[in-house]
Amino acid sequence: MAKNCLCLTAKTIDRNLEILNKYRKYIDLAELRVDCLDQNESLYIRRFPELAGIPVILTIRRDIDGGQFSGGEGARVKLLANGLAFANADSRLNFAYVDIEDDLKVPSLEEAARTFGTKIIRSCHDLDGSITDICAKIKSMQRTGDEIVKMAVAVKTTNDVLGVYKASRDCAVKNRIVICMGHMGVYSRILAEKFGSIFTYSSALSETEAAGAPGQLDVQDLAELYRLKKIGKKTKIYGIAGYPLKASISPWFFNSIFALENMDAVYAPFPTDSISDFLDLAKELDVQGLAVTVPYKEEVIPKLSKSSAAVQAVGACNTVFPIEGEWYGENTDIAGFSCSLLNLVNRKNLKNQKITIVGAGGVARAVAAEVYRLGGKALILNRTASKAKALASIYNFKWGTLDTQGIGQISKYKDIIIQTTSVGMEGYEDADPLELYTYTGKEAAMDLIYMPAETQFLKRAAKAGCKTLNGYDMVISQACFQYLNFMGKEIPQKVLNRIKSLGESKWSKIRTG
Ligand code: ATR
Repeated sequence: MAKNCLCLTAKTIDRNLEILNKYRKYIDLAELRVDCLDQNESLYIRRFPELAGIPVILTIRRDIDGGQFSGGEGARVKLLANGLAFANADSRLNFAYVDIEDDLKVPSLEEAARTFGTKIIRSCHDLDGSITDICAKIKSMQRTGDEIVKMAVAVKTTNDVLGVYKASRDCAVKNRIVICMGHMGVYSRILAEKFGSIFTYSSALSETEAAGAPGQLDVQDLAELYRLKKIGKKTKIYGIAGYPLKASISPWFFNSIFALENMDAVYAPFPTDSISDFLDLAKELDVQGLAVTVPYKEEVIPKLSKSSAAVQAVGACNTVFPIEGEWYGENTDIAGFSCSLLNLVNRKNLKNQKITIVGAGGVARAVAAEVYRLGGKALILNRTASKAKALASIYNFKWGTLDTQGIGQISKYKDIIIQTTSVGMEGYEDADPLELYTYTGKEAAMDLIYMPAETQFLKRAAKAGCKTLNGYDMVISQACFQYLNFMGKEIPQKVLNRIKSLGESKWSKIRTG
């Protein structure tokens, strides 16, 4: 399994040690990024391994490679030499590794390192995609068998990630670190073992320091949430694909279950620019289950070999998993939604219920289909009239826009009001699509948004005395159905109860994403 290496990018040695000590229990080694230190601090790097008490990589990253060192090569080599000087016979007092770029040719440095057991990490940072044959490059970099080759490629697309993955798989260099830098390649750091890497670099993101490189994950999340040390060759891979995929409950939800159940499985975020390319990569990675989210719930359908009746009915798919090597699509949003709504109103169906659905997008389509299936009658209100009309006509529902006239119709559809638009989401907290409506206090109000926990729409409803529910319950509920699809069994009730209560304490963390 890959080792967790904490990248230390503070301005002073003391601060780096403070961070190291705080996160020591999560890591196997640390990288001292001398390029981030204040200039006078770099005089004291030689004692760092002794103070750290853990294997340390000595790195002075140039600005052209994404680091902060902008001085000349002479000065940099001198600093590297200082770090390797006065080598001690007790190797724990020396740097365990030194990062030497592939194009830096200073034999005396390498000799100094080798003499006292400091291993060489031969690195190459491809920030602009200029290396066309990554596999050949990795092979060419290793000069002696004991060297570690580090290839970090800035990726912009899933296709880039696929290229790097294949290069790593095919290169036949055992001691290697292969990283896809940037948000699009974030999972290469979690699935380091799968990408063939012996180390994965993380940062102390909850400190004020910035990430050591684009896409680095928080050191504690990597260790505790993703359970890096448990990820081996046989670990089953699950995840969520979407874009931009900045904040999602799913990785926390599934990984918490995997931990509680002691399952050899991991759930990763898969940001992607192309769901089609991602499904190709998912096949290579042997992904066993995938949640699909915005903006790919519709786009994914033509890529599936088969899909459920629910997917076909609403034209949206949020769950994909392999059956006999072919991708099968399911929609668990629908079942999650009705479970959650029926609980709120304490009913088994929606017969005799008059319901207002706000919005006419992808989510509203699923909501309308379920309201119809459960016997409810609905009014669909949407900013764009044509979309409201088109959706309403499928089920013979009423429709209108969000103006005074449309809102006026709610008086006849006010048993339940369901808010499905993105209005009121984090970043737009003050917005309320129903600001023209005055609640009577008798309505049950459901908002599918869960970040923030209480939108303006829900705040006003609660103030008027309405029963309210946000989208958290639905998200958990649809994830439970996903688990059932992925694993072929339900989440044990005891585990689910535990997760739900853990969710309360995790809530603020999830909200800030
Ligand atoms: P989703 O899959 O989340 O439903 P979508 O299909 O893009 O996403 O639909 C977004 C919904 O939010 C639509 O109903 C959209 O209204 P329009 O059909 O008029 O675009 C609604 N929406 C988004 N931004 C809005 C805004 N600022 N005011 C009102 N409605 C908005």
